[in-house]
Amino acid sequence: MFITFEGGEGTGKTTLIAKIAEFLRKNHEVVTTREPGGSAIAEAIRDIILNPKYQGVTPTTEALLLAASRAQHLDEVILPALKQDKIVLCDRFLDSSLAYQAYARGLGFDFVLNINAYAVKHLPDLTFYIDLDPKVGMKRIENRDKYDRLDQETREFHDRVREGYLEVYKKYPNRIITINGDQSIDEILGQILNEIQARL
Ligand code: TMP
Repeated sequence: MFITFEGGEGTGKTTLIAKIAEFLRKNHEVVTTREPGGSAIAEAIRDIILNPKYQGVTPTTEALLLAASRAQHLDEVILPALKQDKIVLCDRFLDSSLAYQAYARGLGFDFVLNINAYAVKHLPDLTFYIDLDPKVGMKRIENRDKYDRLDQETREFHDRVREGYLEVYKKYPNRIITINGDQSIDEILGQILNEIQARL
């Protein structure tokens, strides 16, 4: 089972994924991974995408680099794990490119889906979108000592990302479950585990 987690900044996905993995590992083999990144080569591409020193990365280059890192990550990590019947929990995937690059950057869904057609040979079985007002999310991350290039984007950009996710949800309502991110981590965890267990 291939499960992805989506949302804006500061939605607590990383903590949630660690807790979900800990629970599922009692009975299953679980791989946790993330995008951009998840393998040595894809993490190297992540550094180019997110390093604040590369302010000149254009939206098209950004989308292509994300698709390249995704291609490597799928072939090297996700597909082999799924072949071995492991549960893959992935922090972000294609829907991030649709919300951030297609919608918020304005590249359009067709463009982003076309370039990802080379990379994405397998869509997630299930996706959790943690919906949170960017005002709350950005406040949560304001004390982080490291801000990446996308964290540094404007509030308007992050508002567009949220609108983008709502459009993505309209495209894939059967795959994506929206979770209210303005709840305690334990409440969110309970809802997600119920949904996963109903499908296992
Ligand atoms: P994160 O690991 O802290 O969530 O950071 C990843 C950043 O990269 C986040 O700002 C969202 C962004 N991103 C995209 O813009 N498009 C993508 O396809 C992916 C996977 C991430």
